[in-house]
Amino acid sequence: MTMYKNYIGGQWAESTDTIKNINPSDLSDCIGEYALASAEDTEAAISAANTAFPEWGRSNIQARFDALDFIGTEILNRKEELGQLLAREEGKILAEAIGEVGRAGQVFKFFAGEALRITGDSISSIRPGIEAEVRREALGVIGIIAPWNFPIAIPAWKIAPALAYGNTVVFKPASSVPGCAWALAEIISRSGLPDGVFNLVTGSGGVVGNAILHDKRINAVSFTGSTATGAKVAAACSARGAKYQLEMGGKNPQIVLDDADIDTAVNISLNSAFFSTGQRCTASERIIVTAGIYDQFIEKMTAATSALKVGDARDPSTQIGPVADSSQLEQSLKYIEMGKAQGATLACGGERVSLEKDGFYLSPALFINTTNDMQINREEIFGPVATIIKASDYDDALAIANDTDFGLSAGICTSSLKYASQFKHDSKAGIVAVNLPTAGVDYHVPFGGTKGSSYGSREQGSYAKEFYTVVKTIYTYPG
Ligand code: UN1
Repeated sequence: MTMYKNYIGGQWAESTDTIKNINPSDLSDCIGEYALASAEDTEAAISAANTAFPEWGRSNIQARFDALDFIGTEILNRKEELGQLLAREEGKILAEAIGEVGRAGQVFKFFAGEALRITGDSISSIRPGIEAEVRREALGVIGIIAPWNFPIAIPAWKIAPALAYGNTVVFKPASSVPGCAWALAEIISRSGLPDGVFNLVTGSGGVVGNAILHDKRINAVSFTGSTATGAKVAAACSARGAKYQLEMGGKNPQIVLDDADIDTAVNISLNSAFFSTGQRCTASERIIVTAGIYDQFIEKMTAATSALKVGDARDPSTQIGPVADSSQLEQSLKYIEMGKAQGATLACGGERVSLEKDGFYLSPALFINTTNDMQINREEIFGPVATIIKASDYDDALAIANDTDFGLSAGICTSSLKYASQFKHDSKAGIVAVNLPTAGVDYHVPFGGTKGSSYGSREQGSYAKEFYTVVKTIYTYPG
């Protein structure tokens, strides 16, 4: 079996520990064996990134553009092949997987351009004869900790801006999806970046993650993952004064008002709740429906949910792939049992599906007769499990939507300009979608939430520079 190594200081690095990359659509299919970095390997990667920083921080912007553009072009050219790999290791259906790879390529292209658009300000001084100027400079070494649910797009939207603004990178992917991370590192290794500017250290949170969090040479950490791990990142970084940015959970509401086009609302809700097997922090796990359309919506939504085809992620007829691994399956099943025990009605799904090949298949579960105080409506499930909550009118629906510890995305289906407009203002989420699913975002537009969902400045688009640069204010007296 091929053994895939880590990439440290411009060299492919062996290690004693390895992990097998298993296909969740077919547990007998092992994609490859991947080296797991040790704490010493991680330190070596941090040293390499630290040594490479002074020169890369002052590098010519054309060199940055060329490297990022090369990476983006190759990812786009290999979109189908890398999409196959992504679907095989994570379980996202092929169309979504290829779409995600395309997004990753576009992100690199976008930040190639951003490297050429690093600007500053010139501000008139209140003191005669003095010039005041503001510049953006690189931060230093960035630790990037990425989740398993977007194995190439999330690494891309952290690595690309880090490099574009002159930082060096120590990248820890989720150890359950090492394939896309390795493929990305392999492309980056041929992009002309000096040794040590980019380093890959696949491994566990306990070993590699901790080594990144506690090393003083890591100047900033960008993290996407669970709320519990996010709290550890925050504690470790604030204790040593490192900058950090967190993207964590969601419990996103999708409102459907009486005046919505019902078929459109059902399609949007299906997408929000169940596409990517519900494993998106932007997924809608709470569908809030007003009284006048409630019965009709439940009937159509239940029929549409039951009709979704669960299967192998790489079978083109599949609509819902497997959940990513056994712990994700257990988590969804636990919440399905909890929902039933706490008085919600399971309208359809929520069962393990046996197919020819053994995989982590679960039929999409839709709960009705739920209230917003139930645990299934408070905690993020992160699987193909959604609930419907009845609301009396717009004001009630809005209050329920905002009554959550999270604040990533929120959607409304309505034909009323008045309610759409009010919701854009009244929603407490960081991303608002009108007559669109709560998940699925553009690559050049800021991304992030409020409350328990996010901390720090926004990711993506030109807003990413707030995190990946530091502002320097300069006063000059020319004499
Ligand atoms: C999307 O909805 O397309 O981890 C992006 C996540 C998010 C990304 C969602 N950070 O699911």
